[in-house]
Amino acid sequence: MFLHGTSEINEHGHLEIGGVDTVTLAKDYGTPLYIYDVALIRERARSFKQAFEKMGVRAQVAYASKAFSSIAMFQLVAEEGLSLDVVSGGELYTAIASGFPSSRIHLHGNNKSYHELKMALDHEVGCIVVDNFYEIELLKGLSTQYKRKIPVLLRVTPGVEAHTHDYITTGQEDSKFGFGLLNGQIEQAIETILNIEGIHLLGIHCHIGSQIFDTAGFVLAAERVFEKIKEWKESYSFIPEVVNLGGGFGIRYTEDDEPLPATYYVEQIVEAVKKHVNEMGINMPEIWIEPGRSLVGDAGTTLYTVGSKKTVPNIREYVAIDGGMSDNIRPALYQAKYEAVLANRVTEKHDKEVSIAGKCCESGDMLIWDLPLPEVKAEDILAVFCTGAYGYSMANNYNRIPRPAVVFVENGEAQLVVKRESFEDLIVNDLPLKTKITQK
Ligand SMILES: Cc1ncc(COP(=O)(O)O)c(C=O)c1O
Repeated sequence: MFLHGTSEINEHGHLEIGGVDTVTLAKDYGTPLYIYDVALIRERARSFKQAFEKMGVRAQVAYASKAFSSIAMFQLVAEEGLSLDVVSGGELYTAIASGFPSSRIHLHGNNKSYHELKMALDHEVGCIVVDNFYEIELLKGLSTQYKRKIPVLLRVTPGVEAHTHDYITTGQEDSKFGFGLLNGQIEQAIETILNIEGIHLLGIHCHIGSQIFDTAGFVLAAERVFEKIKEWKESYSFIPEVVNLGGGFGIRYTEDDEPLPATYYVEQIVEAVKKHVNEMGINMPEIWIEPGRSLVGDAGTTLYTVGSKKTVPNIREYVAIDGGMSDNIRPALYQAKYEAVLANRVTEKHDKEVSIAGKCCESGDMLIWDLPLPEVKAEDILAVFCTGAYGYSMANNYNRIPRPAVVFVENGEAQLVVKRESFEDLIVNDLPLKTKITQK
């Protein structure tokens, strides 16, 4: 069994996280319940930041808030001195409401609306990561309303796609995001932006994928970007002050995953950039990265209560829990794999194989196939590890199942940071028919 962060087994044979007994948490807050190991989030944040500091490079580590966003999470990120990447009006609103310093907020998105852009500019966010020509036009119109020049990065698709251990050089930039790096689009975008009085072109952004366990893709992306920067220096006298190489650093979900330390990713990225900067004889740009999953993924654990069981003779045993694709859609959406234990009986032999079924009305709502557990009984507490990224943030109300509560644990204390949704919450936006209902 692999225990992440501060997770331990206590004297009652229960799983403990952040010095708090998870069985007690299940009793106090109910299930399904998302638990975040705050010390582990802090450790991850610091290791990225310190890696840049050690290399003497000016940098921003921006938390990709799509992985998990809430007021408390944003306050924690602010406390650790990170920046914040948001991709929608809703994420931006949450950030502002949390008191996050707006100068460290970066607005992303492939279809930002006029209102989202205006909201970001009214709050003087640190930068807008511009994705397409439509957005340039919107920003051009908006720029006349503000005194300061709008700081922007241009997002490029570098023709490098990284997945786990491999990267694919697509050559073609077939993506809904960003300006093609190799087909002339980015030059057109630079020329347009440089001619807009109210916009300041700060630099270039690219993001090559997610759950990446190798650094070759990042190095290649940096190489592609800098080949172009050499040309832009000549043609436009444009030298980026910022180069943002995105997120995507992999984490351990199961024993098949072998993540690299944050330091290693940072060293390789910095070395790659330094090499080109030295060749060109230009100033080192600020390097920005945007980790999401690697900051919160393995810090999250979800607790469920076991309910019904079904044995299909000679095939398998299904064990149903009180959540599923409504609180974690990743297994149904892209066959994501997880490890789990019985939190109330961790020390018992996990030597029976069962498959964990969600409670949603979908055959595809299976959380984990063929999971080794002890003989499972109703009311047992199942703890699924590594659910901290893209779990709660993708939670939904399918089958009108209320979304779970979220608790932060640290130094023996638990704090509720997102309340469980109630049935009343589910109908809060529903409106009855205008006409009087006649019972038939
Ligand atoms: C532009 C951008 N930056 C950062 C991230 C975060 O990626 P990860 O959570 O894999 O670190 C994403 C994820 O989709 C992204 O699209």
